Amino acid sequence: MGTITNAVRLRHDLSARISDARARTDELFAIVQNESMYDRPISERHRIIFYVGHLEAFDWNLLAERAFGLRPFQRTFDQLFSFGIDPVGSGLPTDTPSDWPQRDEITSYVAAVRDKLDEAINEALSKPDKGHPQLKTMLEVAIEHRFMHAETLAYMLHRLPSEKKIGEQITRKALKPRVKPDLAEIPAGRATLGLVKETGDGFGWDNEMEAHDVDVPAFSIEKCNVPNGDYLRFIQAGGYKNRSLWDDESWNWKNANNVEHPAFWRRDGSLWLYRGMFGEVRLPRDWPVYLSHAEATAYATWLGRKLPTEAQFHRAAYGSPKTSGTERFYPWGNEAPTERHGNFDFHSWEPSPVGSHPAGASAFDVQDLVGNGWEWTRTEFAPFPGFKAMSFYPGYSANFFDGKHYVMKGGSPRTAACMLRPSFRNWFQRHYPYVYATFRCVED
Ligand code: AVJ
Repeated sequence: MGTITNAVRLRHDLSARISDARARTDELFAIVQNESMYDRPISERHRIIFYVGHLEAFDWNLLAERAFGLRPFQRTFDQLFSFGIDPVGSGLPTDTPSDWPQRDEITSYVAAVRDKLDEAINEALSKPDKGHPQLKTMLEVAIEHRFMHAETLAYMLHRLPSEKKIGEQITRKALKPRVKPDLAEIPAGRATLGLVKETGDGFGWDNEMEAHDVDVPAFSIEKCNVPNGDYLRFIQAGGYKNRSLWDDESWNWKNANNVEHPAFWRRDGSLWLYRGMFGEVRLPRDWPVYLSHAEATAYATWLGRKLPTEAQFHRAAYGSPKTSGTERFYPWGNEAPTERHGNFDFHSWEPSPVGSHPAGASAFDVQDLVGNGWEWTRTEFAPFPGFKAMSFYPGYSANFFDGKHYVMKGGSPRTAACMLRPSFRNWFQRHYPYVYATFRCVED
């Protein structure tokens, strides 16, 4: 009896999460005007239409044969839509819109994949002892893969001119109290990086394994993310022209691409504008600045500070003043995340003013560590000790252990709540400027 109840609950829970994730990506494609579906808002990445097919092809390629023994019914699409592109690769893609199938053919493929997989998933979850032993993990992979695309697609659609989208830009006023942006002192202590299996729902990607302790010496960290207004002072002080603040590679990247300010900003005469999802607004001075790792590093260097390491971020977010004692699951404690705790889980298209979620502060009173923008760290994305690639998705992390990608922690307004666990690691190249990523500095 107990097993039946658990099976029913598991099936319901996973099915609901799959539908929720699908609704997130469906609603994203719905903000694009039909004529713009074959546009390519970011030149290093695929056209928008690719992602319509990709999300289903990914699920199909992962699950159909391996978990359910289903035969392919449209192999050309399974292959055509199988892989995304890592931005800043070797050369730009040169395909044209006519290289891609018609939208209605792709829509039919999507519907057929969903039907076939849903039937198989329901069937398998109703007989939990019979199916593939890793079915639940594979379904988590499919769900989080889709949620990650719900975010990376939002970066991409953010670059699409607003007349090609359906929706209205909302400006928010800074009505909430701002925390005084000073430094929090973090005493020496231990951080546990990686997935602690007994916490959360137990799922984690390969790069979150194995859990291990790191001793973190005392340091101080900015309580708030760097807001646009502070970053503007860096620009006005000639930060982008100051050779000493940039390493060779970043200096060359910046000059080759005429980068003079964050990609989310635009200068119009003496006015600074912010490119919102649905239109431009006067630069909100108190929103966290979204920018590349290279730009964040130059700013920190200007102040004689640094970006935090992954372990420092972790200690500031999940540790407590006592050197020992268990870490929290969220900065604010173990209570499930809600809108009070921070700006995440798709409630907003844009950031909120820095420090406007005091209920989400960490034990050290550090604000917005989760939500309102991923946070760049100075830690290269590399495997933890004991790393083993997932057999059914070997390239998920391992393809990016190349010394070019940096760890981002926390989460953005477009990050699903299930990915706010402490061990989740995000990563991008240091010159990729389109992510919802901000930063704060440390002194150590
Ligand atoms: C973990 C967000 C860096 O978008 O490149 C999606 C996630 N991997 N499909 C990316 C991902 C394959 C990945 N990030």
